[in-house]
Amino acid sequence: MVPKISTLSGYIFEYQKSVTNPTGFWSNLADTFYWRKKYTQTLEWNFEKPEIKWFINGKLNITENIFERHMFHRAEQAAIIWEPNNPEEAYRTITYKELFAEVKRFSNVLLSLGVKKGDRVAIYMPMVPELVITMLACARIGAIHSIIFAGFSSQSLGERIMDAGAKILVTSDGGYRGAKTIPIKQISDEAMESCKCVEKAIVLKRTGENINMKPGRDLWWHDLMATANDTHKAEEMDSEDPLFILYTSGSTGKPKGLVHTTGGYMVYTAYTFRNVFQYGDGDIYFCSADIGWITGHSYLVYGPLLCGATTLMFEGIPTWPDAGRFWDIVDKHQVAQFYTAPTAIRSLMAMGLEWVKQKKLDSLKVLGTVGEPINEDAWHWYHDHIGKDRCPIVDTWWQTETGGIMITPLAGIIPTKPSYATLPFMGIQPVIVNPEGKELMGNSVEGNLCLDFPWPGIARTIWGDHERFKQNYFAAFPGKYFTGDGAKRDEDGYYRILGRVDDVINVSGHRLGTAEIENAIDEHPLVSESAVVGYPHPIKGQGIYAYVVCKQFSTGGEEGIKNSILMAVTNFIGSFAKPDKIQIVSGLPKTRSGKIMRRILRKIAEGQTTDFGDTTTLLDPEIVNEIIKGAEKLK
Ligand code: PRX
Repeated sequence: MVPKISTLSGYIFEYQKSVTNPTGFWSNLADTFYWRKKYTQTLEWNFEKPEIKWFINGKLNITENIFERHMFHRAEQAAIIWEPNNPEEAYRTITYKELFAEVKRFSNVLLSLGVKKGDRVAIYMPMVPELVITMLACARIGAIHSIIFAGFSSQSLGERIMDAGAKILVTSDGGYRGAKTIPIKQISDEAMESCKCVEKAIVLKRTGENINMKPGRDLWWHDLMATANDTHKAEEMDSEDPLFILYTSGSTGKPKGLVHTTGGYMVYTAYTFRNVFQYGDGDIYFCSADIGWITGHSYLVYGPLLCGATTLMFEGIPTWPDAGRFWDIVDKHQVAQFYTAPTAIRSLMAMGLEWVKQKKLDSLKVLGTVGEPINEDAWHWYHDHIGKDRCPIVDTWWQTETGGIMITPLAGIIPTKPSYATLPFMGIQPVIVNPEGKELMGNSVEGNLCLDFPWPGIARTIWGDHERFKQNYFAAFPGKYFTGDGAKRDEDGYYRILGRVDDVINVSGHRLGTAEIENAIDEHPLVSESAVVGYPHPIKGQGIYAYVVCKQFSTGGEEGIKNSILMAVTNFIGSFAKPDKIQIVSGLPKTRSGKIMRRILRKIAEGQTTDFGDTTTLLDPEIVNEIIKGAEKLK
């Protein structure tokens, strides 16, 4: 059983141990898992190269730690409770034994299609249990899964499939999200047109709508599973064999395929899950994230299942059929721990208390948030109206790259402070550095958040581009991992995350690179250039503000071009990346060397009209006044 810390003094003691003797600490924890062959060395690392290896030469399969390890005690316990989009459709409870059988059958399906250890399998599916079955079957046979959030467009899906060189795509006919039906297979078909690497597509029937099945390529999930056998011995994996690739946005270039490996990720996600949420036997745990993002990977699937938990998976959205849906689910399934994003809290808060008042919410013990800074108002609303003043809130800071939670309270153990992620988790050594890389010691300091020492869950590379991995995370402050976030350490030593210091924005908990959105806008034939910045948004956290220079107006004038820009972004990335505001400008503020002064554009987007700092390097200062005037009209 993964150990649980239960007191503040226990946390202080364990934390000290974890930083004074990290290898001893993590190897003790790793020993609570099932290894086919024990590792010979706990850690080898070098942040200059960078190279990080945990539990070296250890042999295991992560699914044996989910299934075989739990079969004796938990065979009949619910592994997944699946709540469908439509509350009138029956929910499903899948026990550990049933999930195990399905995973073994799908493992055999993948093997029968020629998938081998190390092959990549792309997954583009709605939030249904078969998505979990697919990812675990990949892990069981040693294939590397690459899940793409089902809100991405065919263009984005295709780029990710090609980058990973996936030979199989697992998808569905369609998917439900609130009142909408998403044409998932149609999007997959468009994506596959440009992906020569995909040999077969396996299609799950979810919505039953008419779709095209390409002979020789497309196969129905139910046909393949009907004859698949449910005995399968897991592939033996090395600790450092890749488990999955997950794409995320950076400040420049195309999305990066972060690679997480097997042994370290397993130990880290399980240990953080158990301790942060203080999960206990019999608890029903509900994480509202989509499995297409890292939170879904680590804290809907791997962390909970490795701990033998019951994890609740929800297909729909928080506002359908009404804004009480989350709370209905909590009451219906007696949820003990609930984990969501601040943007969801803010949007439900804006709908008013009438959606909460009728709900009991008395099963709740712990509330969690992740993905973006939570403002004090939202924190208090969550605490008072959902947690009824008795549930601790864990504000968990981490990233796709970190694999698991890094700075966080342990529920009910570390005293919380609204909008603070509080203290580092075991083994995590945060440091704050100034722009010159000097470490700011002591408390009451603010700067760039870095990490000084590896932890088992850290990503090991970017798929196919190790140099980019180095440049992105280890070059700015040599010898340290740079998070891209700003942070403050207050007088009590508590950490408050201040947001990104690079050109990454966080919109409704979705991480986007401004460059990605600009590329999509610039594809529009009438656009000559654009600059995208984030600005404070009351619900989304950050909104997307696009300044666009056009070659000429099409018929339909300014409104026409704005609409077609929105369409271009939807087609290139997905509708979640659509700008909230588009301002057509005659030029962008640039330095004499041609660099866009984003600092000025950010301030204008925030509503500032004066005090832009040093503007002496501007090529054409007049453009700033023009943009300010235009921005006022958009308010
Ligand atoms: O800026 C931080 C923000 O989300 C970024 C990571 O995004 P992503 O890789 O998509 O992972 C999100 C889920 C782990 C971080 O660099 N972020 C994440 N959690 C918090 C946060 N900002 C403030 N407070 C948090 N609790």
